Amino acid sequence: MKTKNATGIGNAIDRVEGHLKVTGEATYASEFKVENKAYGQGINSTIAKGEIIGIDTSEAEKLKGVLKIITYKNAEKLKTFDKERPVLATDSIAPVLQSNKVHYYGEYVGFVVAETFEQAQYAASLVKLKYKEDATARFILGQNKDKAYNPSEESDYERGNLKKGFSEADAIIEQTYNTPIEHQHPMELHATIASWNNGKVLVYASQQIVEDAVISISGTFQIPKKDVRVVAKYVGGGFGSKLNVERHLIMAVMASKMVGRPVQATVTRSQMFTNTGLRQSNIQVVKLGAKKTGELTGLLHETLAYTSTTQEFQEPCGSMSKMMYNVANAAVSERLVPLNLQQPFSMRAPGEATGSFALECAMDELAWKLKMDPVQFRIKNDTQEDLSQEKPFSSRLLIECLTIGADEFGWNKRQQKPRANKKGNWLIGYGVSAAARAAPFNETHAKVLLDLTNDTVTATLQMDATDIGTGSYTILAQTLSECLNVPLEQVVVELGDSDYPITPGSGGSWGAASYCNGAKSACDYAIAALKKNRNVPNDEDVSIAELLKMNQITSYESQSLAKPDSEFKKHSIFSFGANFTEVWVDKDTGIYKIKRMVNVGSAGKILNPKTAYGQVIGGLTMGAGMVIAEQTKVEPNFGNFITRSFADYHVPVNLDMANVDVIFLPEEDKIVNQMGIKGIGELGITSVAASIANAIFNATGKRMRDLPITPEKLLMAEVEDGVTV
Ligand code: MOS
Repeated sequence: MKTKNATGIGNAIDRVEGHLKVTGEATYASEFKVENKAYGQGINSTIAKGEIIGIDTSEAEKLKGVLKIITYKNAEKLKTFDKERPVLATDSIAPVLQSNKVHYYGEYVGFVVAETFEQAQYAASLVKLKYKEDATARFILGQNKDKAYNPSEESDYERGNLKKGFSEADAIIEQTYNTPIEHQHPMELHATIASWNNGKVLVYASQQIVEDAVISISGTFQIPKKDVRVVAKYVGGGFGSKLNVERHLIMAVMASKMVGRPVQATVTRSQMFTNTGLRQSNIQVVKLGAKKTGELTGLLHETLAYTSTTQEFQEPCGSMSKMMYNVANAAVSERLVPLNLQQPFSMRAPGEATGSFALECAMDELAWKLKMDPVQFRIKNDTQEDLSQEKPFSSRLLIECLTIGADEFGWNKRQQKPRANKKGNWLIGYGVSAAARAAPFNETHAKVLLDLTNDTVTATLQMDATDIGTGSYTILAQTLSECLNVPLEQVVVELGDSDYPITPGSGGSWGAASYCNGAKSACDYAIAALKKNRNVPNDEDVSIAELLKMNQITSYESQSLAKPDSEFKKHSIFSFGANFTEVWVDKDTGIYKIKRMVNVGSAGKILNPKTAYGQVIGGLTMGAGMVIAEQTKVEPNFGNFITRSFADYHVPVNLDMANVDVIFLPEEDKIVNQMGIKGIGELGITSVAASIANAIFNATGKRMRDLPITPEKLLMAEVEDGVTV
């Protein structure tokens, strides 16, 4: 696509909303000026399973400023689940405070409303609950394998004949990979200001998908969708935790109805561990077989994960294993164990982030066994057809990602033999991994309002899309600048309001592709309609200002939509990437450093290299976090999370990620959508963990299959058979 404006797509412009953010003018959910609002604070259970048998609110009620204490005894009646453990979706109902039953430690058991935030917090701490504990609670995945069930028929996938595949192999590896519970922890706390007004609901909320939040609220309160308005102008990160509506929002709406005032609920950082989503722990078994020459003959990927006892979520860890390599015989299965822990849901690249750790470590293990270079091993097993969907890829530049990355990284300096590269006390290792992440594109509606004043056109875009820190405002402004051929200063982007046309929201790496194509369709529609009215040929280059003048109008409104076409459906659509990592491991202490990383991605048209770069850096950092620190620990007797603040839930800091190189391949995918856009946010985290673990093996000869890889684990681990120390 030709870029007509310096502000059009493809240019690394600064964020259009950047100034608003750094000056504090961008309104996040809890920052809207709402008159007469009260504050609500959730109360968390202190048992993991059982019943509430007594509630004493007397002390709390005496406090100044307390307006209402809501528990299951006086809560509004909400829609509850009509079957056991329904699947959690982004638009699911979110009933809360509907019974005296407790299902996990930290579950909301009450909500205190007061004049101030501090009063509500203090009052909440004074509410005394008495419980009858049920000793049958279960917390540890590995200890409850016998309780596993098959969540759906689709969780079993098979092609070819796996037994035959492994019988044809010259080398086979089979290993178990463990990943712990992790939390998303966006910078902006989950928050809402909710108003109930004569049966109509208005919520300012931190949500990734406005439309699904509307559906969830209307479903939970059993009120018409048209009576619910959700506003999410700025969202300070989500990573999946804000895909669905969480209970603080429902309690705030309920409280507003009960006290007759708007109610703000801000989830505390500590409650972000217990009440707003997480990535569950997984136990993955991967078995791979290959011929001496490197061709894969069999692939098995079995995942065991937990879900809560109330709802079901299955992270599809085998998704990448199904489509990544040219292996005729493959099987993927997924099983769930219900535990008395918080409900898991999508966390950045659900499936790929964890699944790729198992698959891409296993690929490294087999390459080593075959004495093959792990880059060459992957190239050998490349495929241009998605064997699981029996469709060609719309485009797949994985080999290019691997070879260009290897060049940039200096892969040829790698020693195939572990522990061969040393500097003083440091053992130096290089690791590689390949990545693929689905690049969805979903139906998206958009409205463009054109205004002609003093010969200058101002174009305003409206859609219910969200900007979760990714840069939606910026890439959409660029899209309008490009499509209408007007400079950025004449573009206004208005997002995050359910009054605007419906989009799929931000999630699953479909935001950019969906939003921009939707916006383009509204622009194209306006130009075509204005030309048609005046019999201007479609291919004639007339400015938008001129077109309005020719039509003798000063304003015009156009609404249109973009959606996948038949070509899209005939193809398998993925973004691809490769990660290269160098680690230095202290041979005496096990302390290691990520010295540098090179990430190469092919994700179609890069709308803005600056915001795209930010997405990948963020993904790489989260991927590194999986390896070096991130882990939510469960207390094995009581089922509470021990890690309840950033003092004990550690994430990478700048120094950990000091030297990171991100390369985007120029990729023209003419099939995926008109603008050739593919998702990027989740590609960035995919297989990062494996590239680090593989580098650690290359450095030390130790296979680290349990995340996170702490220095003590690394120190205690034995080197693999065949490694000379
Ligand atoms: Mo993503 S886990 O769909 O925000």
